[in-house]
Amino acid sequence: MSAPKSVLLCRVADLAPGSVRRVEHKDGPAIAVYNVDGAFYATDDNCTHGLSSLAEGALDGDMIECAAHFGGFDVKTGKAVMAPCSIDLRSYRVEVRGGEVFAVLAD
Ligand code: FES
Repeated sequence: MSAPKSVLLCRVADLAPGSVRRVEHKDGPAIAVYNVDGAFYATDDNCTHGLSSLAEGALDGDMIECAAHFGGFDVKTGKAVMAPCSIDLRSYRVEVRGGEVFAVLAD
């Protein structure tokens, strides 16, 4: 069985706590990577309400607030937690290896 495919998101040193970044890659939709107090999380970057980039929004603790209509998601789970968002985001398992942060696309 082959290893699951993963995508390099950023270097640990390049994404400060409280920050979020959009990462484009060739194997699927753009991913948002979040640093919440030194722990990294990843979800799809496109808001499920209107496809706005969540990386343009505000990370408040473990919630990302969309800049378009101020809906929110729990970045740890992808769960929609604030209206008008009601459809959960895909979230990704994150691995930190050698100072770099990866999203695992499939297990
Ligand atoms: Fe994100 Fe509407 S597009 S809340």
